[in-house]
Amino acid sequence: MKRFVILVTMAMVMALFTLPAFAGDSTAVKQHQYVGAKKCMMCHKKDNTYPTWEITKHAKAWESLKPEDQKNEKCVACHSTGKDATGALLIGIQCEVCHGPGADYMKMNIMKDKKLAMGNGLLMPDEKTCKKCHNENVPEQFRSKEAFDFAKMKAKGIHAIASATEIKTEVKPTEAKPTEGK
Ligand code: HEC
Ligand code: HEC
Ligand code: HEC
Ligand code: HEC
Repeated sequence: MKRFVILVTMAMVMALFTLPAFAGDSTAVKQHQYVGAKKCMMCHKKDNTYPTWEITKHAKAWESLKPEDQKNEKCVACHSTGKDATGALLIGIQCEVCHGPGADYMKMNIMKDKKLAMGNGLLMPDEKTCKKCHNENVPEQFRSKEAFDFAKMKAKGIHAIASATEIKTEVKPTEAKPTEGK
């Protein structure tokens, strides 16, 4: 009987430690749905973020994979965005990889209020966001020889930053011309 009580207690203690962790993970995944970059385009064409993102390597990251690699989960994880509510895979590195799944923050009244938007899943990315992919897990033959430099890589190509003073209009961050300007 004593042993039984001890076992039950142990099980309960273990449950206490493991449950919150699992619960936390599953809500984080379920809470917000991906919608795809086309949905962001409606409003983010004018500020030039969508058009300047569209010409980056991120937007074309899926096309870099050979057909057989598009079936390799390892490659897919870093060359795609996630699945939308219908279960369709959103290919390439879209807005929501960096800014969080948008279903709950993309409404105009929410988007206009940054605090509210962030409460509904909007993320403002930093270096850590990039390093989820720009790290030593990139297959060696594709990995950049240089250490990841956030400021440099941000300037090289995510999209135009409208609020940056030095950038005015129609800035094209990267058009796959790595030798230009060197
Ligand atoms: C219905 C229109 C609309 C849609 C759709 C929309 N946005 Fe926005 N977004 C806005 C407006 C308006 C602002 C505020 C701009 C401002 O204040 O200058 C904004 C601001 C932002 C900001 C900057 C936040 C800040 O204030 O610094 C980010 C990042 C952003 N949106 C990302 C996205 C992403 C990603 C999507 C797609 C999932 C998306 N938006 C869809 C209208 C929209
Ligand atoms: C989900 C994974 C992922 C995240 C997160 C990510 N990237 Fe990337 N990035 C890639 C992939 C994959 C490529 C290569 C795309 C290709 O050429 O097919 C790439 C390429 C780039 C390039 C082009 C490199 C070149 O040599 O021309 C730049 C610049 C870049 N990323 C900057 C960033 C920055 C800055 C962040 C964070 C704000 C970031 N990335 C976050 C996956 C990611
Ligand atoms: C940990 C995330 C990650 C994984 C896993 C990953 N990649 Fe990438 N891949 C990247 C990043 C980031 C870059 C850009 C490297 C850079 O510019 O520093 C890249 C670049 C590439 C490029 C070069 C594209 C170009 O424009 O030159 C190819 C091709 C590629 N990856 C194929 C693959 C294949 C095939 C796999 C699976 C075997 C794979 N990747 C797995 C993140 C990843
Ligand atoms: C690779 C990561 C990445 C992707 C993909 C990305 N962004 Fe961003 N975005 C950033 C970062 C980093 C910032 C903050 C830049 C800063 O203020 O230094 C930012 C800032 C913004 C802002 C605020 C701009 C400003 O003027 O302050 C808007 C709006 C925005 N992004 C919209 C989008 C939309 C729409 C897409 C898709 C078409 C997108 N982003 C794709 C990383 C990304």
